[in-house]
Amino acid sequence: MKILFLDQSGKPGGAELCLIDIAKPYKDSCLVGLFADGSFRNLLEQNHIRVQVLTTQAIQVRKESSLAQGLGSLGQLIPLISKVVQKAKEFDLIYANTQKALVVGALASFFSRRPLVYHLHDILSPEHFSQTNRRIAVTCANRFASLVIANSQASQAAFVAAGGRSDLTEVVYNGFDLKNYQSHEFDVNKIRQELGLEGQFVVGHFSRLAPWKGQHVLIEALAQSPVDVTAILVGDALFGEQEYVQHLHQQVKTLGLENRVKFLGFRSDIPLLMSACDLVAHTSTAAEPFGRVIVEAMLCKRPVVAAKAGGAMELVENGINGFLVTPEKPDELAQVITTCFKEQQKTATMAHHAQMTASQRFDVTAINQQIAVLLNKLLLKTSS
Ligand code: UDP
Ligand code: GLC
Repeated sequence: MKILFLDQSGKPGGAELCLIDIAKPYKDSCLVGLFADGSFRNLLEQNHIRVQVLTTQAIQVRKESSLAQGLGSLGQLIPLISKVVQKAKEFDLIYANTQKALVVGALASFFSRRPLVYHLHDILSPEHFSQTNRRIAVTCANRFASLVIANSQASQAAFVAAGGRSDLTEVVYNGFDLKNYQSHEFDVNKIRQELGLEGQFVVGHFSRLAPWKGQHVLIEALAQSPVDVTAILVGDALFGEQEYVQHLHQQVKTLGLENRVKFLGFRSDIPLLMSACDLVAHTSTAAEPFGRVIVEAMLCKRPVVAAKAGGAMELVENGINGFLVTPEKPDELAQVITTCFKEQQKTATMAHHAQMTASQRFDVTAINQQIAVLLNKLLLKTSS
């Protein structure tokens, strides 16, 4: 099957990392078209997936854009759309992985007469997107897509609530290559030593630095946790959230936590770093569409605490395979941190159970098989 994947980002966010796993089985016959250049291109190349940057001109639509701004950017898209139309003729289907890719893919699908699949990685709710953005996404999907793959039931429900056609949707969770999440004790001890974490109870936060990812909630909770607890914040501001980064550094200073918080920036050794933690915290203040880091923590056999909203609630069963706390409640989070700090044997048992169930639910081979079945069905339907 020849697939033209489209993604607007040059940077490796969760949707992009998920796309690498989806594209891999098609690597000999697919192309990933990007609307920006960056380290995501390198990652695709390292995985031997053919990639082409289709434009380097920034598309000026933000998550909160108005209709006028949205329409204004349409003209800017014309050269890109005609390029995608030409490319699409060499492929069996177009697979849009982000919202701007959906808009371009929708028009390209119409002109090239190739079916369109939209992989929805977002919660199309007012807390995440302007009404205009939601309308554009839903209209393009309803009118042009033959299949919408939602990354969780929460994303699917928000799509339908925003006016999306439920008959188009299927829920497929992210898949993970299980062997990537096994670290050797020697390497784990070494990295703890290198980072000066020996003898500490380490809470890890793995996410791009952005207000809705809620790193500030963890810092606030840390101030209410035992003094032997340290936090590592892994991730960078991928989409220009510099002000928030400054705010986090200031918060650490104001609370006198300089010796207990380490900012590690963007890293490519997530499984090893997670394995070096005693607890992984997910603290999004708005509903998380899926939450790859939650599953990754489970696969690394580390206890995980997540903010109780969106996709996270489909991944974590409180007290069974992790903990759920109310979003933006640092005191609740501090209580869980303290419990995990005091009852490490009990939480280790829970983490062990979480690893076993997550390995079954999120194995990339099974998830890719689910996608293959959907795409084959779609091609059969559209060609008849
Ligand atoms: N990640 C990474 N390096 C970092 C921080 C995060 O590779 O420094 C990865 C992380 O392991 C996860 C992804 O980025 O796979 C983030 O995905 P998630 O679904 O948690 O959130 P998103 O950023 O996509 O909203
Ligand atoms: C998006 C979402 C995240 C999800 C990822 C992969 O980036 O924000 O929650 O895990 O896509 O589907």
